Amino acid sequence: MNQSANLYPVKPEFAAKSRYTRERYEQDYAESVAQPEAFWGRIGQRLDWMRAPTQIKDVSFDLNHFRIHWYADGELNASVNCLDRHLATRGDKTALIFEPDSPDQPAQHITYRDLHARVCKLANALRGLGVRKGDRVTIYLPMIPEAVVSMLACARIGAIHTVVFGGFAANSIADRVADCGSKLIITADEGLRGGKKVALKANVDAALKMPGTNSVETVLVVRHTGGAVDMQMPRDRWYDAVVDSQPAQCEPERMNAEDPLFILYTSGSTGKPKGVLHTTAGYLVFAAYTHEAVFDLQEDDVYWCTADVGWVTGHSYIVYGPLANGATSLVFEGVPNYPDYSRFWQVIDKHQVTIFYTAPTAIRALMREGEEPVQKTSRKSLRLLGSVGEPINPEAWRWYYDVVGEGRCPIVDTWWQTETGGILISPLAGAIDLKPGSATKPFFGVVPALVDASGQILEGEAEGNLVLLDSWPGQMRTVYGDHQRFIDTYFRTYPGTYFTGDGCRRDADGYYWITGRVDDVINVSGHRIGTAEVESALVSHPKVAEAAVVGFPHDLKGQGIYAYVTLIAGEATSDALHKELIAHVRKEIGPIATPDHLQWAPGLPKTRSGKIMRRILRKIAENAPDQLGDTSTLADPSVVDSLVKERRVP
Ligand code: PRX
Repeated sequence: MNQSANLYPVKPEFAAKSRYTRERYEQDYAESVAQPEAFWGRIGQRLDWMRAPTQIKDVSFDLNHFRIHWYADGELNASVNCLDRHLATRGDKTALIFEPDSPDQPAQHITYRDLHARVCKLANALRGLGVRKGDRVTIYLPMIPEAVVSMLACARIGAIHTVVFGGFAANSIADRVADCGSKLIITADEGLRGGKKVALKANVDAALKMPGTNSVETVLVVRHTGGAVDMQMPRDRWYDAVVDSQPAQCEPERMNAEDPLFILYTSGSTGKPKGVLHTTAGYLVFAAYTHEAVFDLQEDDVYWCTADVGWVTGHSYIVYGPLANGATSLVFEGVPNYPDYSRFWQVIDKHQVTIFYTAPTAIRALMREGEEPVQKTSRKSLRLLGSVGEPINPEAWRWYYDVVGEGRCPIVDTWWQTETGGILISPLAGAIDLKPGSATKPFFGVVPALVDASGQILEGEAEGNLVLLDSWPGQMRTVYGDHQRFIDTYFRTYPGTYFTGDGCRRDADGYYWITGRVDDVINVSGHRIGTAEVESALVSHPKVAEAAVVGFPHDLKGQGIYAYVTLIAGEATSDALHKELIAHVRKEIGPIATPDHLQWAPGLPKTRSGKIMRRILRKIAENAPDQLGDTSTLADPSVVDSLVKERRVP
């Protein structure tokens, strides 16, 4: 295909109404990197401060003087910025539209005034239960308004929230609660997804029986499905019983700019998930500003991000960004294929959604069902589409563009990470021509670079490891409880830079193309899973001696999970044990970590010093046994032949 067929120029009619034209992008970008203090000082004024900052940026990635501080002497409260300051002008505007799992249940429209009252009531209740500034609160809820209310209520009283995705199992909850020493958990009786119930409260009960979780004094339980749960008094309290009678006003806590706002656990290449910590001002400035600029937000937009608040996308682009901007944000409890494959498009018509932000994995799954479920809806309200979480293949991009958006709506392919707090590389639809599969150009203040394995910076057209040369306000500040791990993970590999863990190509036009993780992190349907986590779940089974886990290309999920398992001596392989091990991983981590393939491995390919050669395992999992490369350094090269012969051809 020729180059011009791959270019989707900015539409003049879009540019005419949008916040950023090409000239404005280029000018502002140049200023943002040449004079970051002046630039971010001005952007910081979009927030309401209790004390305006005079120090804007104080950053060094140099390991001897390492520090990341933004707006350091400012004071503010995030919930005030998301609620109170809108009351005078937008009190009756819808802040949240709640669309339940089943289309037969009524949707809810919650105004800024209502949301403010609900947040204040819960904040008062939390204070009454002894939660204070700096305490950790775990939120394990379905996608219901209470999830948003809970996050903002924590922010109001200065408690640090840590949301755990509702798809995680008891063990994963327990690990996270133990790591941050939560005082209180907010959960629901049950979740509801695609008509199926999820036993949230029962999972919390099981988690709290595990070691390390006795910091938890109270569990607040939202009545959602009305399903029966086991209430253990006095620990467990019904949310409505504690919250409804509280006053609808609550004095917000004065927070320093660098006080923590939340912790969100994410997988890395080694060990257990780490608690990514974001602070108050820089994060909020960045979430709000990127949300407005990248989605070209206008006052009357109805904005829908389909992520779950259990992930960073939900934090930045369902809750903090949109609400700080006074936008209308849609909260969807359900899934794309229930009751049928038209559900997304029906929700768009029902609520006249104008901006729609979803993940490539969802687009691919819907594309597989053909055009009919899309064509039977109107989608005329849409004006901008977004993609996030993994590289979007050009075929899915074109389907999204042509079929969903009918060639009318630009697509913003947004690259970022839990660690970055907000979008770092993305088109601005009025300013940057699109290329399917490319996240295009850096956002204001973002200085990407490509380095080779030795850390040498590559110029021009190149492919290498993606690093960032300078800080941006939304950058994470530490790994909770382990600052050394923060420095070692992100700043030691290529000194003086932040290393993203992603591979990337830059083309002749200076466009960035993310190629995927270069570390031992697998991106399954846009969700990060560490190979080490799945391996440790497998070896926790009494019959497993050793396990090695790699990713492989998967048509729908982007990447799938491929596990090689060696049993302890004397144990026999069987179909029953195969099933049991897969169920074991689901139980230990959660359904998102379910291995797609599990292969028995009488032995694993190891070097003479005992290191597993994952490169070989990846090639076998990719079904590319002719590309194994040099195997002569293996302690026992013959194990490779038997693995190749027994491979589970995808
Ligand atoms: O590999 C990149 C991929 O997702 C990783 C970050 O995952 P997580 O922290 O869970 O955050 C996901 C939502 C921001 C990145 O290191 N990734 C994310 N967005 C894109 C992407 N890869 C390619 N294109 C994207 N637009």
